Amino acid sequence: MTQPLRVIQWTTGNIGRRSLHAILARPDLELVGVYAHGADKVGRDAAELCGWPSPTGVLATNDVAALLALGADACCYNPLWPSVDELCALLEAGVNVCSSAAWITGGKQSPEDLERIRTACERGGSTIFGSGAHPGMTNLVGMVLSGSCEQVDEIRITESVDCSTYESAETQTAMGFSLDPETPGLAESVRRESEVFAESAAMMADAIGVTLDRLTFDVTFTAATGDTDLGFMTIPAGTVGGVMGYHRGWVGDRNVVSVGFNWTMGEHVVPPKPLAHGHVIQIFGVPNMRTVIHCLPPQDWSEGFMDLGMIYTAMPVTNAVPYVVAAPPGIVTLKDLPPITGRVSTK
Ligand SMILES: NC(=O)c1ccc[n+]([C@@H]2O[C@H](COP(=O)([O-])OP(=O)(O)OC[C@H]3O[C@@H](n4cnc5c(N)ncnc54)[C@H](OP(=O)(O)O)[C@@H]3O)[C@@H](O)[C@H]2O)c1
Repeated sequence: MTQPLRVIQWTTGNIGRRSLHAILARPDLELVGVYAHGADKVGRDAAELCGWPSPTGVLATNDVAALLALGADACCYNPLWPSVDELCALLEAGVNVCSSAAWITGGKQSPEDLERIRTACERGGSTIFGSGAHPGMTNLVGMVLSGSCEQVDEIRITESVDCSTYESAETQTAMGFSLDPETPGLAESVRRESEVFAESAAMMADAIGVTLDRLTFDVTFTAATGDTDLGFMTIPAGTVGGVMGYHRGWVGDRNVVSVGFNWTMGEHVVPPKPLAHGHVIQIFGVPNMRTVIHCLPPQDWSEGFMDLGMIYTAMPVTNAVPYVVAAPPGIVTLKDLPPITGRVSTK
């Protein structure tokens, strides 16, 4: 076997800890470093941070210079909020970045930041790639499914789920949950927070051979009719308990790509459309195609259901490491890479 690729895991939250676990499980990847944002995680063994059965000897650190000096091949980058400074430092040091953190094409970055990232890739001979479940896998399935059509009118992707068990209060509040639906500027703030979906819409448009004239965003907030205490946050009656919205890409008056969500939180909300409890992928054209991706527990699964969703989100990024290391320097997307597969377990 060729030498394993040397990988850094950047943060170990909901998604990062599943990524870390998967890196340790793969013989073709070697964990060389773990970045900790939280001071409580510094100095702890990677095994402890992801529930791996035996110590790894790799201790989490917040010493970025030391991590950059490791000469790693790749970094699985899963922080809550991405930082262009961190990305540039990694890329300039020659570390290929696979991110779940608000990155698909880089299209939502300012022109200056995008230029910094491109320059860092050039200097480091490195590549940046972003994926996840949604955006990520859903877009890939949509692009692939459109290959069944003689004519494609629209690819529409909808995450249609109850988010109550996704314990990231900051992420949920950023999407409007628990806020007054009449909060001034709420729709614009949700658009901004979810702009990575627009990047994924643009990527799909590119894949089906059109240049978008414009991208728009529309959203409907549904107020909860009763209080729900979710433990990590509450959804009081009258505040946002449902958010349904789409980033849409247009060619003239034709809406050719749509990427969005029909989300609920708490027990007291009736969304504008019934939940499908999965990712709904629709191609309108000749023929119409439709599939729903459900993420389901294997037999004897003892962890929470949401853990499966975190694995589903982490793996399109972690499994991409060998493909991204092999890709040319610069920004690559799911449309550019060969199909990214999982691996048979051998460890
Ligand atoms: N594409 C998709 O399908 C998809 C789906 C869900 C989420 N995501 C994205 O994936 C990323 C990780 O999500 P998550 O649910 O794992 O997040 P999370 O658990 O809430 O946070 C991830 C980690 O970020 C670090 N962190 C905490 N506060 C921070 C701050 N203010 N600035 C920077 N880092 C901070 C912590 O690192 P330590 O562990 O080191 O303390 C934390 O564990 C997010 O960017 C999220 O938007 C993508």
